[in-house]
Amino acid sequence: MDAVRPRYATTHDPYFEELTKRVNAYFALPGRSRRAGPAMWRKSATLVALLVGLATAIYSGRLHGATFVVAFIAWQFVQFLTTIGIAHDATHGAYARSRKVNRWIGRIFDALGIDSSHWIANHLHSHHAAPNVPLRDSAIESFSLVRLHPKTKGRHIHRLQHWYMFAVYSLVTVFQVYFLEPVSFAHRVFGFRREPGWIAGLARMLAKKLAVLGWSLVLPLVVLSNPWSEIATGWLLGHMLCGLALGIIFQTTHLHEGTSFIEPDADGRLPSPFAMHVLATTAEFSVENPIVTWIAGGLNLHVTHHLFPSVSQTHLPALSRIVRQTAREHGAPYVHYSLWGALRSHVRMLRKLGSMPSPGPREAPRLSWSAVLMKPSRFLHARTEILMQASRRHGHVVRLPSLGTPMFVATHPVALQRMFKDNADNWAKSEEYALLAEWIGRGLITTEGELWASDRRILSPAFHGDMVRGLSERIEESARAMLATWTQDREVDVSDEMTRLSLGIIGRKLFGRDISPSLGEIGRLMTVCQEHLTRRMLMPVDFGSRRFRRTRDELRAIVARLAVHPGPGSVAELLSENGFGHEAQIDHLVGFFAAGYETTATSLAWTVFLLTKHSSVQERARHEGGAFLRATIEESMRLYPPVPCFGRRALADDVLMGFRIPAGAKVIVAPHVTHRHPDFWETPEAFDPERFLLPRRNAIPRGAYFPFGLGHRFCVGRQMAMLTSEVTLALALEAFELQPGNGPDPSPVALIALRPDRPVAVRLRSRDGERRVARDPAGKCQRSPAGFLVAS
Ligand code: HEM
Repeated sequence: MDAVRPRYATTHDPYFEELTKRVNAYFALPGRSRRAGPAMWRKSATLVALLVGLATAIYSGRLHGATFVVAFIAWQFVQFLTTIGIAHDATHGAYARSRKVNRWIGRIFDALGIDSSHWIANHLHSHHAAPNVPLRDSAIESFSLVRLHPKTKGRHIHRLQHWYMFAVYSLVTVFQVYFLEPVSFAHRVFGFRREPGWIAGLARMLAKKLAVLGWSLVLPLVVLSNPWSEIATGWLLGHMLCGLALGIIFQTTHLHEGTSFIEPDADGRLPSPFAMHVLATTAEFSVENPIVTWIAGGLNLHVTHHLFPSVSQTHLPALSRIVRQTAREHGAPYVHYSLWGALRSHVRMLRKLGSMPSPGPREAPRLSWSAVLMKPSRFLHARTEILMQASRRHGHVVRLPSLGTPMFVATHPVALQRMFKDNADNWAKSEEYALLAEWIGRGLITTEGELWASDRRILSPAFHGDMVRGLSERIEESARAMLATWTQDREVDVSDEMTRLSLGIIGRKLFGRDISPSLGEIGRLMTVCQEHLTRRMLMPVDFGSRRFRRTRDELRAIVARLAVHPGPGSVAELLSENGFGHEAQIDHLVGFFAAGYETTATSLAWTVFLLTKHSSVQERARHEGGAFLRATIEESMRLYPPVPCFGRRALADDVLMGFRIPAGAKVIVAPHVTHRHPDFWETPEAFDPERFLLPRRNAIPRGAYFPFGLGHRFCVGRQMAMLTSEVTLALALEAFELQPGNGPDPSPVALIALRPDRPVAVRLRSRDGERRVARDPAGKCQRSPAGFLVAS
């Protein structure tokens, strides 16, 4: 489930206005703070005393049999109370004033085996942001055994879910700690989006799980003389009690007979303002029962908690009365139950959900012909603008105007997950790749099935780990050679410069030696082929095909000549060692050139352009290098993804986010649109590299960022591209201050790559005398303390 922020209706809400006034008046009284006060400190001290007391009793060795088991269960239950009673408040910023203190207290989650950042992402950014909004609220996420909202497919077993749901709840903590989190981590790492630093992340997560299993189960087994069955029973029943309590507290308040499941419209807007949405989707129970409130950490007063999440639980009973009173006066739909009433209503709701018919797929909203025909020039120059317009106006899956083959654009991570992961076998590459094959033949980009899988197995190691890291000196040499031609106060077209640079670097990787003399010609031929294909993609008629074929053959002849004596460790050598035939070798080599040079060059050109416009970011990237420099490149590829859109073809009927996609339809996915969508990004148009640094990085919804593609067809050249960009930028920033050149700013044009429509002019101001990089006697760049030469 993705942490997607919905937009609530902004219509005037007299209820919430009055409520806020009354709540402010409540806190205006002297000595009242929204954060924890004496009552909360007393509760915290009581819980700590109970934890210590029970641990002492358990480890004293004097408890045996049923008494021991009961004490062990109680010990775990008090841990649970501490988590929902104290840590939960802290993660909402409701415990201490200091964010740091709240963060530390929030780590109680980690101590008990629940990853706190995972919890925050799910609970705050998903559940609190969109309670009971199907596909957005992680708390009603359904799986094969349970159906918690009507927008998910119904199965026969769901008709019985009201009978077994409490058993499911009782296993929820064990399941969450020891299964769900590792699986979701593995999913992130091995599937949809591989993140930098994943090995360290995996090691940290496994260490945490082992540590928790160690202190909660293995330690008592080793230290205590009680039979293992007593310890294991106490451990398991303790977890079951906690899971049951968790399910009752959280689920009864949202899944009851008076609740609603609210869907956003095609633009992602919810129909009601925030407070009305909360009242329609949430209930409270045992509102005047202080014992239930103490045990539930105030979460039985769930409406009030959702309306005022950063208020300490000790104030919730008083605020709940205000919420109720104000609702009564305004006729607002406030719902509350007794504990027993909440349980009964929950069971009835589960039964109702279990027997609801499955939602059928709907027809996707359409972008009208007039939207395209009003400005036909857009079709040629800014296809991404049309895709952006379709997505903003009509939602995340939109049918585009087309003759013949139905065409759609899909921009939501849930739809992408379906296409590239869950049902990837149903999605082949779109017909543009067949056109591309006329140029690059049967390379990795254009083939499918067995041939692709076996070629990728053989070739991808050449672009990973040491095989790429070993290239960093060559990259540095090439970048230095380029920078040596840059001089003070000159204006350079970085787009041009970076194109030549990346052609040279890829040439070195492919042939294992410097191919500078051939670069000019290769670049020229590549451009002719590319322009021809771009025209072919936009127009049905094949003008200039003879010239194209001649150019293509010339290009292949040069590549064939260069591949005759490949250098050690080169891709050409790997191809010939693995018995690839002559034609197949040339196909792959031309394919790598085509896939890598323009993408890397445009990424570098846009990054430099953005840095000239944001001098403080430029300074920080120069000083810090390392993670910040990488974040800068990633942020630049968010705003200007070098591959702005690419397509797939449905082999059989499919459904994307409830919309029917017929067999044969083409679906365009558009990083350019998803990367700038306000549902997934705060201030999406701003250049803000910090969003790619931890901890903010964790809040990026999975699948909302994919400049290098998705799923098993993920770009093989990512590491190489990132290394090229990092090394080049680090050296350029050391040598020059990059200032905007004369003339208007370039705009992106979506051809195959997202090219700038005019030269990216940059004025150079030399930094001689203030260089930070130490040079060794051979004049080579040494690793700076910030480590800017580190490849991810
Ligand atoms: C910033 C630079 C780059 C970007 C943004 C980029 C982007 C992408 C994207 C979006 C795809 C997926 C296309 C699809 O699924 O249809 C892809 C695939 C591919 N890229 Fe890159 N790329 C870059 C650099 C490179 C480099 C340097 C190379 C190699 C020299 C390379 C080689 C490939 C290959 C061979 C594929 C096809 C992979 C497969 O289907 O198995 N790319 N790239």
